[in-house]
Amino acid sequence: MEKLSIEDMAVFCKRKGFVYPNSEIYGGFSGFWDFGHLGVELKNNIKNEWWNYHVTQREDIVGIDGSIITHPKVWEASGHVANFTDLMLTTKKTKTKIRADQFIEEKLNIAADGLTSEEINKLIKKHKLKHNGEDIEELKDFNLMFETSVGPDKGQTAFLRPETAQLIFTDFRLVVDNARLKLPFGIAQIGKGFRNEISPRDFLFRCREFDMMEIEYFVHPDKDECPLIREVLNYELNFYSAEMQEKGKKPLIMKVKDALRRNMISEWHAYWLAVEQKWFTDLGAKSENFRVRQHLKKEKSHYALDTWDLEYNFPFGWKELEGIANRTDFDLQQHMQASGKDLRIYDEETKDKIIPHVIAEPSLGVERAFLVFMFDAYVYDKKRNNVVLKLNPKLAPVKVAVFPLVSNKPQLTKKAIEVYSNLKKYFNVFYDESGSIGRRYARQDEIGTPLCITIDFDSIKKNDVTIRDRNSTKQIRVKIKDLGHKIWEYMNGVKFEKLGKTILK
Ligand code: ATP
Ligand code: GLY
Repeated sequence: MEKLSIEDMAVFCKRKGFVYPNSEIYGGFSGFWDFGHLGVELKNNIKNEWWNYHVTQREDIVGIDGSIITHPKVWEASGHVANFTDLMLTTKKTKTKIRADQFIEEKLNIAADGLTSEEINKLIKKHKLKHNGEDIEELKDFNLMFETSVGPDKGQTAFLRPETAQLIFTDFRLVVDNARLKLPFGIAQIGKGFRNEISPRDFLFRCREFDMMEIEYFVHPDKDECPLIREVLNYELNFYSAEMQEKGKKPLIMKVKDALRRNMISEWHAYWLAVEQKWFTDLGAKSENFRVRQHLKKEKSHYALDTWDLEYNFPFGWKELEGIANRTDFDLQQHMQASGKDLRIYDEETKDKIIPHVIAEPSLGVERAFLVFMFDAYVYDKKRNNVVLKLNPKLAPVKVAVFPLVSNKPQLTKKAIEVYSNLKKYFNVFYDESGSIGRRYARQDEIGTPLCITIDFDSIKKNDVTIRDRNSTKQIRVKIKDLGHKIWEYMNGVKFEKLGKTILK
């Protein structure tokens, strides 16, 4: 099936109550989006699943929740005030602002991330590039941090955080001491990030306000072997190293152990890329849409020694979904110097005070993850003549819909409402009695509800119901008293057919 365009996805999300343009009644506000009654559920489920997999289920990672506005010195020390910039072009006549690397990529069809202003100027001159017929006037660095002021009158200038990571570094000693962390360990955080993007576009892909899910994973500076690597040695990834890109080669699907044998990647980087891709595919994303691409030297952020991106094949091309940088001890060193505080920790094994290294920083935007799950779930089913959103049950906004077979029979509605009210204590359940049963199934298929329960006349006599599966449309019969734990089993991976007796249609 042809992939939906990003514009089609935006229309679908709006029509179904997932995502709305912010301030639409005032004409919208570029780069800002609001999540509707289904979108907020999907977004919360993504965040909960991420937290569960990365924090709750692991022994080596704890979480924090830092504030959005923080002391401005943090951003000076981190290098963001000086370096968190994109190159911006301004056109001569209308003074339109455009992001320089995107402009070059579109005009010349070359990778432009990391080009210097000098290189961009040369390309513009050489190819006589114009924007909508206009000449380009100026090229300058534009800092992406939003400024605000704190306190009465003009107050003190501060920034909205462009990444959550710095809070992990500034709280580092408190967290390590109080949670009694032993290396290797991670500190995770989910929260808002803000970037004053020059050209926000591609729907949720590039926003000015978004949620980030980040981990700083710390190791002893002299120990670069990964004790967890065995878990992922046989996991396959589509590798695209810097060398492969430089030599014009294509990405290659390989087991992690083979990439390690070729010295293509470090153990820790390979471990985190595999763990991160697995999180997506365990939740229903399609592995053929992922690849892992190493940054070229010129692309790397000011703090990074090496970076690999988990990329996804979006309708507008392979793009960064999640960045995984090796930040070394850059940030802790910077904050030690700027604050004058000792952020070293005591390593019991070597009996030394050390500054740990961030060997990997998985950094993922919730909005980009949202798009991935939506694209990989969206199917147009010709037989049903309808969209079926095959979201993993853990992510689906509504888990179960409950219908009386017909709406004008009080015994049926009473029983259906009874079933609905009981299930609602445990799951997000929707009740619907309007329209034909086929129409009601179709409405739930479109929004990704995995199970529909119908109460019929037999239900009153036998206290059982029909459950219909979204993906296969198969139906089974289940006792009302068993519904709660059957749904829970299904949500946790038990196959639909195993839940009850199949009804032959
Ligand atoms: P890009 O090259 O696409 O601008 P980036 O390199 O600036 O991305 P990072 O700084 O690595 O992105 O940010 C970490 C993660 O945060 C990204 O992988 C992405 O998931 C998310 N992210 C970054 N910028 C945005 C944005 N403007 N809108 C939505 N998500 C974003
Ligand atoms: N914290 C990583 C990033 O913002 O890219």
